[in-house]
Amino acid sequence: MIEIRGLTKRYGTLTALDNLWLMVERGDAMGFIGPNGAGKTTTIRMLATLLEPNAGTALVAGHDIREEPEQVRARVGYMPDFFGVYDDMMVWEYLDFFAAAHRVPRSRRRRLIGDVLELTDLSDRRDASVDSLSRGMKQRLCLAKTLVHDPEVLLLDEPASGLDPRARMEVRALLRELCKLEKTLLISSHILPELAGLCNKIAIIEQGRLVTAGSLDEISAQLTGGTRLIIEVAERCGEACALLDALETIVQVAEQDGRIEAIYQGEEGGEHHVLTALVSAGFGVRGFQEEEVDLEAIYVRSTKGLGSE
Ligand SMILES: Nc1ncnc2c1ncn2[C@@H]1O[C@H](COP(=O)(O)OP(=O)(O)OP(=O)(O)O)[C@@H](O)[C@H]1O
Ligand SMILES: [Mg+2]
Repeated sequence: MIEIRGLTKRYGTLTALDNLWLMVERGDAMGFIGPNGAGKTTTIRMLATLLEPNAGTALVAGHDIREEPEQVRARVGYMPDFFGVYDDMMVWEYLDFFAAAHRVPRSRRRRLIGDVLELTDLSDRRDASVDSLSRGMKQRLCLAKTLVHDPEVLLLDEPASGLDPRARMEVRALLRELCKLEKTLLISSHILPELAGLCNKIAIIEQGRLVTAGSLDEISAQLTGGTRLIIEVAERCGEACALLDALETIVQVAEQDGRIEAIYQGEEGGEHHVLTALVSAGFGVRGFQEEEVDLEAIYVRSTKGLGSE
């Protein structure tokens, strides 16, 4: 759905984005993360056709951002990282304005506005003035705006920034709904645990360069060299370690205070063979689990902290 091909952007002598290649498949929710100044907003604005690349290009829903910007705009919903000021405009007028800009016929707009207000839980604010809304409501309204033309691709630049925990949860629930509607999402954020619960893929950039991209499990496996298993046995911990060490699928074993950490590098989904081996050798296995993917740890391990503020 999004195919970024060598996208490059320079501001004067600064290369904000340096030859980025990245694929987002239909129905993916990709978290786009990186330190301040990494080039996330720059990338998203180019995909939304609001900024011209210096080199490279991207296809969005099959259309080239440089050759067919109109076609791209019709298929993309872009949520910027700040909300403008709209003096004396009512919520429904605001949405009507954007729907009209996307050439949604007047006869369909009323119903459409009702739908997006309901989805974003703003129905009771229909006639309120935009400037009277709280920040969280504005954020939701901004999301409602990006949906008025029923885009296939959503480019969301820090959709949950500056919100209280409750409002953040609401935005996240809303984004999950959008995933169910088979939209393709590219979401930049600094709030990593939030992305982990929402995104099936992540891409990490730093100083305008891609550090890594893939599914959470893939990236975690790349960095640890396998799946990390946490195992507890009732007794004979040392012997259990020796047994694990001898298994072909286990590449590394460490033990601390009766808690064994083993790195598994066998076929996917075959971790239970390790458990079977322990049980058949008569070990009382108290705990056996795959370590949860820790997005924050991945982020810290894969970025060097260059250029962060
Ligand atoms: N209009 C501009 N003129 C000059 N430099 C710019 C401009 N916009 C961005 N930059 C620079 O380009 C780099 C990338 O900025 P960008 O806003 O894309 O980063 P970001 O990843 O979105 O950061 P943040 O997490 O802080 O939002 C930064 O070094 C920034 O200072
Ligand atoms: Mg940004």
